[in-house]
Amino acid sequence: MEEKKVIIQLRDVCKSFQNHMVLKDLSLDIYKEETFVIIGPSGIGKSTVLKHLAGLLLPDFGSICIENLEITQLGELELNELRKKMGFVFQSAALFDSLNVFENVAFRLLRDYQIPVSEAEKIVLEKLELVGLKPEIINKKPAELSGGMKKRVGLARAIAVNPEFVFYDEPTSGLDPISARAINDLILNLQKKLKVTSIVVTHDLSSAYRVANRIGMLYDGKIIGLGTPEALQQNTDPRIQKFIYSTL
Ligand SMILES: Nc1ncnc2c1ncn2[C@@H]1O[C@H](COP(=O)(O)OP(=O)(O)OP(=O)(O)O)[C@@H](O)[C@H]1O
Ligand SMILES: [Mg+2]
Repeated sequence: MEEKKVIIQLRDVCKSFQNHMVLKDLSLDIYKEETFVIIGPSGIGKSTVLKHLAGLLLPDFGSICIENLEITQLGELELNELRKKMGFVFQSAALFDSLNVFENVAFRLLRDYQIPVSEAEKIVLEKLELVGLKPEIINKKPAELSGGMKKRVGLARAIAVNPEFVFYDEPTSGLDPISARAINDLILNLQKKLKVTSIVVTHDLSSAYRVANRIGMLYDGKIIGLGTPEALQQNTDPRIQKFIYSTL
């Protein structure tokens, strides 16, 4: 990272579901081209934060600025334009079961960018190679792939549109340590090669330590501690210490 330009800014974001307040005055700055990891216990609101960034959920209160656009004020068309710059890797790989690998990875290229199929094929092959998958798998359906392969296909789909932002929700969950490591290396590589700004949500601490420029711990609706992996490990907040040491 050469410069520290804030590209995503959350201010005092509040969100309740029924009477349960999940985000409570959450404020956070994300720098351009960094990989920011959000850690925190299950059910604390990590996926909820990502859904707000994608404009899939609106806060009850507060401001969310992405590239200086207040996204809570955008109409559906403007939001779609902004979403074109985003790639999502969902918590479950969330591939379309009835579509093959090519159709899954090319989905947004064909739907949102109206790219000709021959061109899309080139892009899909290039992205599959980037995530370490062989070209032969393009005709396979998700049911024929292992969990790790599905995660990679999900990753290839997220980066097919050359996004400026990639949001990863639990990219290594359910994977064996070797596949998880491969996914971590991919996240690092994509950041290096494509210069994306990434937010990774995980409760896998070894993954967090490996990929993060900075880590923030979400707890009780807020980021209660934030810094480099080393700084976070030295943070004396008992809630952070408990989380870090209970997951060792
Ligand atoms: N659409 C929704 N409607 C009602 N409640 C919701 C909705 N989305 C999330 N919640 C609730 O908000 C809280 C936070 O959920 P969220 O999925 O963001 O947690 P998480 O930190 O991602 O958890 P995990 O690590 O298990 O994925 C949970 O109590 C959940 O039940
Ligand atoms: Mg989640």
